[in-house]
Amino acid sequence: MAPSQSYQRLPGSGTSPKIRNHPSRQHSWCRKEVLVPVLFFAAVFIALVLTMDTSTPLQEGQGHTHIVYSTVTGYFQQDDPKTDPKTFDYTKSNFGLIDREYATDAVVDPQRKKTQWERFEQQVTAWNSEAKKTEKKVAYKLLYLGRHGQGFHNVAETFYGTKAWDCYYSLQTGNSTSTWADAHLTDVGIAQARANAQFWTSQIQTQKMPTADTYYTSPLTRCLQTCNETFSSVPLPAGAAPFAPVIKELFREAIGVHTCDRRSSKSYIASLFPRWSFEDGFAEDDPLWDAELRETNRAMDVRTKRVLDDVFAHDEGTWLSVTAHSGEIGSVLRVLGHREFGLGTGEAIPVLVRAEWKEGDGPVLDGGEWMRPVTCKEPPVVAKEA
Ligand SMILES: *[C@@H]1O[C@H](CO)[C@@H](O)[C@H](O)[C@H]1NC(C)=O
Ligand SMILES: *[C@@H]1O[C@H](CO)[C@@H](O)[C@H](O)[C@H]1NC(C)=O
Repeated sequence: MAPSQSYQRLPGSGTSPKIRNHPSRQHSWCRKEVLVPVLFFAAVFIALVLTMDTSTPLQEGQGHTHIVYSTVTGYFQQDDPKTDPKTFDYTKSNFGLIDREYATDAVVDPQRKKTQWERFEQQVTAWNSEAKKTEKKVAYKLLYLGRHGQGFHNVAETFYGTKAWDCYYSLQTGNSTSTWADAHLTDVGIAQARANAQFWTSQIQTQKMPTADTYYTSPLTRCLQTCNETFSSVPLPAGAAPFAPVIKELFREAIGVHTCDRRSSKSYIASLFPRWSFEDGFAEDDPLWDAELRETNRAMDVRTKRVLDDVFAHDEGTWLSVTAHSGEIGSVLRVLGHREFGLGTGEAIPVLVRAEWKEGDGPVLDGGEWMRPVTCKEPPVVAKEA
């Protein structure tokens, strides 16, 4: 029996095509010798349809699937352990896309007239159409993960040193001359984001790099500003999805204790960026931040998996931009099975992801407890770290 349609397609179109299990046979096949076998086969058919309904739990909304992520290596320099994150410059290396051939080249570009990115795009598109022809439910997506530009909290942490910052200053909303609660970008941070706008503009014009189908952002102000400064002025090619960011709660930085990681109200965000969308259920006031407890890496990974599952289950786009934070991008990389790759403020990394939907609930993600960090009541008297 052919698998149901939803088994093969990307979810998120909003319609979950349920199998129609009402074979309405209205013909007047009333003779007994016909009726009995017809009823028998109808019963068998309905039974089959019903079993199929439960044996194909890859349908969305049934709660019996889990997504297994992996990073597809060999296409970007960043996933190669030989690439040093400290010296690697994605702006001078075509975003790290490796010069190579693809299986689809021979068909889509026999004369080799297209750019590396155009040919890569064809390859990814082909993988996705191939995947739809199989029984498995698999999707390939490219995530453009961007860290926010320098914020006032970054400057303060450097100024006071990480020890004193973690113990005391990060708990304050600022000092008498600087504010870092839900930190805004410094001028340096804005310049970093604008440099990325130049980078995107040139990548689109010269490399025909695919633009994002969706622009996700953390709700913290430094990311909203970064997303805005990076993308709002980039001229998009005809047919590209418009720049219409979606604010997602769970793409935020490690939650708790530090005031720079407590978000502002929904109304404040809406006043800054009136045309942007909030994901469904986005609360007016920060529902997650806690003054005494802070997420561990493990707890972050559990909620990062949740937000990625949400994106992969509902977004049919292949090219997705996420503006987030160093800690959160580190968590995304762990969940996707990518090597560790530290980003400076305002830096970005592309990650090629393969997602496969598997039956069952998947491994239980435990260890999601938050920790109670040791803090200081007074400014600590510590030597500033060099
Ligand atoms: C406040 O912190 C900033 C660094 O974030 C520093 O440059 C400034 O000197 C501090 N102000 C005072 C009064 O200590
Ligand atoms: C968004 O970015 C544009 C372009 O750089 C800038 O002019 C505008 O002030 C920014 N908006 C906000 C609210 O930061």
